[in-house]
Amino acid sequence: MSTRTTPTAADKFSFGMWTVGWQARDPFGEPTRPPLDPLHAVDKLAEVGAWGITFHDDDLVPFGTGPAERDAIISRFKERLAATGICVPMITTNLFAHPVFKDGGFTSNDRGVRRYALRKVLRNIELAADLGARTFVLWGGREGAEYDHAKDVRAALDRYAEAMNMLTSFVIERGHDIRFAIEPKPNEPRGDILLPTVGHAIAFIERLEHPHLVGLNPEVGHEQMAGLNFTSGIAQAMWQGKLFHIDLNGQRGIKYDQDLVFGHGDLINAFSLVDLLEFGGVGGAAAYDGPRHFDYKPSRTEDMDGVWHSAAANMRMYLLLKERAAAFRADPEVKDALEAARVHELSVPTLAPGEKWGDVMADDAIANFDVDAAGARGYGFVRLHQLAVEHLMGAR
Ligand code: GCO
Ligand code: MN
Ligand code: MN
Repeated sequence: MSTRTTPTAADKFSFGMWTVGWQARDPFGEPTRPPLDPLHAVDKLAEVGAWGITFHDDDLVPFGTGPAERDAIISRFKERLAATGICVPMITTNLFAHPVFKDGGFTSNDRGVRRYALRKVLRNIELAADLGARTFVLWGGREGAEYDHAKDVRAALDRYAEAMNMLTSFVIERGHDIRFAIEPKPNEPRGDILLPTVGHAIAFIERLEHPHLVGLNPEVGHEQMAGLNFTSGIAQAMWQGKLFHIDLNGQRGIKYDQDLVFGHGDLINAFSLVDLLEFGGVGGAAAYDGPRHFDYKPSRTEDMDGVWHSAAANMRMYLLLKERAAAFRADPEVKDALEAARVHELSVPTLAPGEKWGDVMADDAIANFDVDAAGARGYGFVRLHQLAVEHLMGAR
């Protein structure tokens, strides 16, 4: 079987500037790599076959830069985008690095900080619109607390909603074609972060003034840090119409946020994720058509060659998994195993058209349902999973 591992623009692979640009400073050690010039990042990402680049405001324009220098930086950046064909599908705001945000941005106990944070985001949305970005990510890494009495969580959620309501009104009034994507994370850097999982964030969005403009940017590792099944979370985000963007990376179990290369963590879950994204739609079509965005950190052990190698590895992993998922779906034995496991039967509504609770109560066939036979019958899920793993291993 021939496998395509060279990325094309149609794959929509994008990278955060802060990923390949990470200097690998951690709580225990100094950086191991030099700073990366954003213009060089654009060139190198184009070279390895990426389609898009994303960034926090401060990744491109250092915090505190004056207006004239800001304009000059942005115009040089635009030139480099035009020269390489790299696009900017998403932008996000850094509301976590500067000490002013140590208790959060939208939900800081300090009202002045909250107002400052709002203005920082508003200015950055104008830049997003200028660069043609359609998605605006909000990762509230500092929105949280370490101590239960330090944060009134209900008031914090009121302030979070107040911020989101203002931002959505802003894009409506300005006529920008931009949607917001909240990125959940359970902890790190705060001890506990608000909107810690996909489920919390979906419930929050339902309470906003313009919920259609707010969705999710789930990250593989963040759900897995909470012990959750990422593929399952993505499926629910899709069901709710909230999968606006996605952060792909790798995580090995419940521990600190590893941000490994996509597929270098829970590989089986990565396989089912790619299968869902690429073939989970009607008739096996792609179920998601947005950017395949990699938000990983090249490990601290790597030099700059290792950085670009790891960037390419993300895309290669995705394409290999896509090819393995296609083979899995095409295998007649898999089709038979799916049939035997009655996976498709779940799509049949439990009630017949027009049936009401009274019909269910009166139905003799239900009353006489052979519970012993149904209880004794196996579902064959292990056979199905074994086939999936064999395809993933390239054994079939
Ligand atoms: C993390 C986060 C962040 C956000 C990014 C966008 O690993 O906790 O990756 O990377 O996605 O900063 O704000
Ligand atoms: Mn992460
Ligand atoms: Mn992320």
